[in-house]
Amino acid sequence: MNLEGKVVVITGASAGLGAHFCNILAAKGSKVYGLARRKALLDEMSLELGAHFKGIECDVASEMAVGTAFKTILDAEGRIDVLINNAGLGIFGPAEDVTMDEWDLQMNVNLKGVFLCTRAVLPAMKAQNDIHGFGGHIVNISSVAGLLGNPNISTYNVTKFGLKGYSEALFKEVREDGIKVSCFYPGSIQTDFFKSAGLPMSANPMTSEQLGSTLIHVLETPDNYLITEIVMRPLRPKG
Ligand SMILES: NC(=O)c1ccc[n+]([C@@H]2O[C@H](COP(=O)([O-])OP(=O)(O)OC[C@H]3O[C@@H](n4cnc5c(N)ncnc54)[C@H](OP(=O)(O)O)[C@@H]3O)[C@@H](O)[C@H]2O)c1
Repeated sequence: MNLEGKVVVITGASAGLGAHFCNILAAKGSKVYGLARRKALLDEMSLELGAHFKGIECDVASEMAVGTAFKTILDAEGRIDVLINNAGLGIFGPAEDVTMDEWDLQMNVNLKGVFLCTRAVLPAMKAQNDIHGFGGHIVNISSVAGLLGNPNISTYNVTKFGLKGYSEALFKEVREDGIKVSCFYPGSIQTDFFKSAGLPMSANPMTSEQLGSTLIHVLETPDNYLITEIVMRPLRPKG
């Protein structure tokens, strides 16, 4: 896909990986809509990125907020070419200490949020396929925790394994509608993720820039060439 002028929606846009994705897609000439709860951070990004970026305050776990956000985008643009389901969090610790609120929050953001945003774009992408012969591209950000269970991250594991299943099912369901579905499985990335997670970041993580270059490569592939899954890891996580 040639990204220039394309309408791109990125969740979890206010920080970390999502903020970097907004930057590089705006630089490609896409019309980027960034969704997140911290409006002040989105407003700062708008000042920096100008006309190529619009921030929308949205909790992806809220059906009403997601419905309103996607209606706003579709009313303004009439199309959505790319959805990047990036918003997510982990709260780590022993399985017996996980509270109901911690379980619900991770399920609601990491899984329900992906479901709600994906459901919101599919009709538009299918309609685009009917007109142009290509529907769009959905990229889901899982984690190596979506492939490997590990101590103290059991709830996060459930959500990211769940996202693997959702991505695989969706890829097979919508490929004939001209919609690509790709799922990324990164190891440690240098972001604020670990501040709220309750585990130290590995000593030598990947960077958002490194993942960003792979994202652009995946999005710019020819229409009939689909990369369904990518595992990314730091070579020497311990430094
Ligand atoms: N960092 C890593 O090592 C790593 C490794 C593998 C996978 N991942 C995955 O990569 C994705 C991005 O994480 P990151 O490392 O960039 O973390 P981050 O720096 O903590 O950023 C998380 C982003 O998600 C947003 N978010 C959280 N809850 C939200 C909600 N309810 N509604 C809307 N947005 C919400 C946050 O914005 P607001 O707070 O403003 O809403 C923020 O923009 C996540 O899915 C994470 O699981 C990260």
